[in-house]
Amino acid sequence: MNFTGQHILSVNQFEREDLEYIFNIAQKMEPYAHRKVRTKVLEGAILGNLFFEPSTRTRVSFGCAFNLLGGEVRETTGMQSSALAKGESLYDTARVVSSYSDVIAMRHPDTGSVAEFAEGSRVPVINGGDGANEHPTQALLDLYTIDKELAAFEQKIDGMHIAMVGDLKNGRTVHSLSKLLAMYKNIHLNLVSPSELAMPDYVVSALENAGHKVTISDKMEQNIDADIVYQTRIQEERFESQDEANKYRGQFRLNNEIYTKYCKSNTVIMHPLPRDSRSDANELDNDLNQNPNLAIFRQADNGVLIRMALFAMTLGVAEKVDKYQCDVPWVSSK
Ligand code: NCD
Repeated sequence: MNFTGQHILSVNQFEREDLEYIFNIAQKMEPYAHRKVRTKVLEGAILGNLFFEPSTRTRVSFGCAFNLLGGEVRETTGMQSSALAKGESLYDTARVVSSYSDVIAMRHPDTGSVAEFAEGSRVPVINGGDGANEHPTQALLDLYTIDKELAAFEQKIDGMHIAMVGDLKNGRTVHSLSKLLAMYKNIHLNLVSPSELAMPDYVVSALENAGHKVTISDKMEQNIDADIVYQTRIQEERFESQDEANKYRGQFRLNNEIYTKYCKSNTVIMHPLPRDSRSDANELDNDLNQNPNLAIFRQADNGVLIRMALFAMTLGVAEKVDKYQCDVPWVSSK
């Protein structure tokens, strides 16, 4: 796929060879992300960073990724502080903001909203999460992380065993990640959730039709002896009421004791974050923080590399980043 000028709305757009290309470019972004060297390749370019739903890492890492390529960021956060709260359509907002920007990153609570917005945009739009539907950049950074973490144990994505745990119905990250995994070979997936929060059928069928082994369960302990455990948060903002969400919070808690008893000695622990650390949820306990296989912060760091790669690719400068290199004059502690 030629990425220049393209929207990135869904992982369905990618073929396996595209993933390899993105990961290759992401890897080349490391010295820039680690402040070993700077680039001005996007000097003068503007990112419109529109977040109509809560976000910390996705919003900030989109912004940092653009800044690290030399560009400027303008952003709005929250529905109430935008003209959408005055009844403006996504189309009109897109027409206006796209004339102010060179590329737009957007998150919105409704399924399909980012694609609808993209129809009005004159510049590439990157989906930062549309409701419970998709989160393509998260899936890319998750897969990039899986690849790196497994490589440290001389393992590959093909043939791996992954357990996804938690709210698989409303979690957009597990939807997008599963669709990407379907492009690989012989994966064994344990899908662990309360039955009411099971992975949507269309995602399970896509995995099964691609020849992967899918095991569905509502028991965590017996299903986490995998290469990767991908824990998730109950997506309380997608429930009718907080009471409804509370029925499920805290059902699957991974801590050091359970990890030691039920996981493999090198099971990699992932989570898209934020982990819900309140005592009635606590799906990933702080007592795992010193575990070398806890990859959650490496995973979040990789988000910058993937988003840098996507900006460089959609703006057609992926091969020019080094040409606009310059020194880092400050003392970097990275
Ligand atoms: C996820 C999201 O927003 O879908 N977070 C993220 O982008 N890293 C997962 C979540 O909020 O639970």
